[in-house]
Amino acid sequence: MHDRRFLADLGSRQVSQPPPRARRRGGGLRVGGVAVLAELGPEQIAISPSVTRFFTASKIGGITSCLSSRSAARTAASECSTMALSRTALISFGGHTDETPVSSCAALTFLGLPPSWIDMTEPDGVLPARVMVTGGSGFLGGALVARLGRRGTRHVCVPRSAEHDLRDPAATRALFERERPELVFHLAARVGGIGANARSPGTFFHDNMVIGLNVLEQARRAGTHKVVIAGTVCAYPKHTPVPFREDDLWNGYPEETNAPYGIAKKALLVMAQAYRQEFGSNFVMVFPANLYGPGDNFDLETSHVIPALIRKLVDATARGEREVVLWGDGTPTREFLHVDDAARGLILAATRYDGAAPVNLGVGQEIAIRELAGKIAAAVRYQGVIRWDAGRPNGQPRRCLDVTRARIDLGFEASTSLDVGLAQTIQWYRDRVGGTR
Ligand SMILES: NC(=O)c1ccc[n+]([C@@H]2O[C@H](COP(=O)([O-])OP(=O)(O)OC[C@H]3O[C@@H](n4cnc5c(N)ncnc54)[C@H](OP(=O)(O)O)[C@@H]3O)[C@@H](O)[C@H]2O)c1
Repeated sequence: MHDRRFLADLGSRQVSQPPPRARRRGGGLRVGGVAVLAELGPEQIAISPSVTRFFTASKIGGITSCLSSRSAARTAASECSTMALSRTALISFGGHTDETPVSSCAALTFLGLPPSWIDMTEPDGVLPARVMVTGGSGFLGGALVARLGRRGTRHVCVPRSAEHDLRDPAATRALFERERPELVFHLAARVGGIGANARSPGTFFHDNMVIGLNVLEQARRAGTHKVVIAGTVCAYPKHTPVPFREDDLWNGYPEETNAPYGIAKKALLVMAQAYRQEFGSNFVMVFPANLYGPGDNFDLETSHVIPALIRKLVDATARGEREVVLWGDGTPTREFLHVDDAARGLILAATRYDGAAPVNLGVGQEIAIRELAGKIAAAVRYQGVIRWDAGRPNGQPRRCLDVTRARIDLGFEASTSLDVGLAQTIQWYRDRVGGTR
């Protein structure tokens, strides 16, 4: 049997301690992975053809398999496990937009290892030179653009609504004709919490519909190779088995307060699939869970649940208030994905996924709002009482995504725990509003 502990050890070393030499060379974990492997001297390495030369040049022996396809990966994986090797490392490094990373995912899944393991040894794959991020100035877009910058993506176009209102077909057309992006992350949207959705359902429907229509149509006309579209968990039916599976997206009407927003987003999935069928467009769509993290929107009129709770509880603590009133009865559950994890999921969707089927992006865990409020209250040391205003809407009773498809097809696993992410977000808010809070 292959030695899983060895693999786990190898993985954790690569994540926590990429050798300094690797960092200096600018090769990141790619070189780091090689250095660690060289040091440990595994008896067998199954790698992708893209790096065979690299390994050979690095004088690392033991290359016995090249993975050129999903089936080859499965074969290699099966050989590894049946050959009773005690030190087998199954590696695929990034550097290709072909199915190499997918084959690594398949192989790892076959071995019963977490796909996140490959992320320790490979960058998230190669992106084309000309990238556009609609909504790149927003919460998720900002995290994505920052991540793209860290990866060295040189040309990232971030159209702003003031100059390029994507509700306007002519403005959208002019933008695409000028930029000719090879890859588009389509994140631009009218976004808000329950209150904002309830106040302006027509605007939420109209803007999200028309922005999506314009962007996808102009991407097609401009010959954009790929578009990664951000959907939303709000697209799911109000009552559907938990965790939400992608196949259940159409099995019911969404929760009423966010249905116009959710349905407008879900219509883009139909458009993407129809364009794929008729025009061969490579438009893929992910459905992220509720996002949170540093940089979130803390405006109580439009914010989502985590920034709203943080703001109310941090401010109440600073003012010594004895009572905080929160919306609903605290019983609904939600799933929260850190914005940096979501940004990474989008990049993986760009580099590893070309399917028509939607993919959930989440952590696969839910938490009751009451418990969440308790966590935040404890983190900010709020001493008062939390009162629940049951006259306010609860929203959807439960929300939690099935993340199996993301794990298998994207090799995606969220890496930020809720406790760590909340601490970061609270700190970010405190830094913005002043040290006294
Ligand atoms: N936040 C969440 O919890 C969450 C969860 C699941 C999915 N999502 C999805 O993730 C995406 C980003 O959400 P977010 O929270 O980052 O939103 P956000 O912070 O509100 O940012 C919205 C972005 O959309 C752009 N935009 C809005 N209207 C536009 C228009 N008419 N023309 C051009 N650009 C326009 C804005 O650009 P300007 O700044 O230039 O106006 C801004 O960059 C959305 O598609 C959303 O549905 C979000």
